[in-house]
Amino acid sequence: MEIVLSGIRSTGHLHLGNYYGALRNYIKMQDNYDCFFFIADLHSLTTHPHPDDFHSGVRTILAEYLASGLDPDKSAIFVQSDVPEISELYVLLNMISYKGELERTTSFKDKVRQNPDNVNAGLLTYPVLMAADILIHRANLVPVGKDQEQHLEFARVLARRFNSFYNCEVFPEPKAFNFGDDLVKVPGLDGSGKMGKSEGNGVYLCDEESTIRKKVMKAVTDAGPTEPNSPMPEAVANLFTLLGIVSTQDTVDHFKESYNNCTIRYGDLKKQLAEDICKQTLPIKAKIEQIYNDEEFLKRVVKRGTERARESAVATLREVRKAVGFRSFLGFDDK
Ligand code: ADP
Ligand code: TRP
Repeated sequence: MEIVLSGIRSTGHLHLGNYYGALRNYIKMQDNYDCFFFIADLHSLTTHPHPDDFHSGVRTILAEYLASGLDPDKSAIFVQSDVPEISELYVLLNMISYKGELERTTSFKDKVRQNPDNVNAGLLTYPVLMAADILIHRANLVPVGKDQEQHLEFARVLARRFNSFYNCEVFPEPKAFNFGDDLVKVPGLDGSGKMGKSEGNGVYLCDEESTIRKKVMKAVTDAGPTEPNSPMPEAVANLFTLLGIVSTQDTVDHFKESYNNCTIRYGDLKKQLAEDICKQTLPIKAKIEQIYNDEEFLKRVVKRGTERARESAVATLREVRKAVGFRSFLGFDDK
């Protein structure tokens, strides 16, 4: 069975971008693949969360994963920092990762622009840690949104480079995965760019119905088309993209037609969009709080998941250490 791995950083609540870009695919893949899903708490440290908030951040993602349908009977669900083998592999992969290629990564350049006062080494080597997450389980498929494409390409480069550098075949080349043809990019409601936790433009799985309606009704549009079949400005195209993700084809066709013949009322489109978002998210929201508060259940889930994840990670790391040339005097590398 092919191995699947993916994760989300513990930096806030999950939004529609996380859900449609990543999580929904995790849920669909659980029956047909050997699945590992984790919470990337080490990655979240690049922005220096306060220690008092750190654990609740992890617990939030865990509860939202489970409320959305991740099933501990099918998938190994774990927290990144509970698997120390990832960090060891990260150190080893750092030795074959080069400053120039890391500096050219788009997400790094964006972060430098956004936070010039916090350009830490963890940010620069973020894609190396992500590659370690993937390669430690020798994953074949990685369900992610469009924004992660370049990181996945780098994980493939590192897998190839390690195998050729150490003349071995330890790592398969992981592929970014989506059930459709292309990776998904869920836009924000503020006119441009993607929906994101740090962009402040998210519709969250835990949002109340009234909050969702308010956010959608406030979405940026324009004065409306004045000529038939006009090109759509980005903000309007984004609303149609969202509609395409959450609504039926009939609904999308209906509003496209009314856009093209200039009879569209954005208020109606937004009302429909809010309703269709609520249909998807409210059943998830209803489960989050109870799961979040069930400490015993969460412990059981993570204990099982971590056992499976570590078993797989230890086996890979043994191969890796052998390939690199470690022969521990203390017998650490013996079978
Ligand atoms: P965020 O970008 O909100 O901080 P993460 O970086 O932790 O969240 O992303 C976790 C997963 O969600 C990744 O697979 C990422 O590709 C996906 N994702 C995040 N935002 C979007 C979006 N707007 N559209 C599609 N996928 C997204
Ligand atoms: N970098 C991803 C993001 O920001 C999160 C992540 C960390 C990840 N490690 C991963 C995703 C491994 C897939 C596989 O969205």
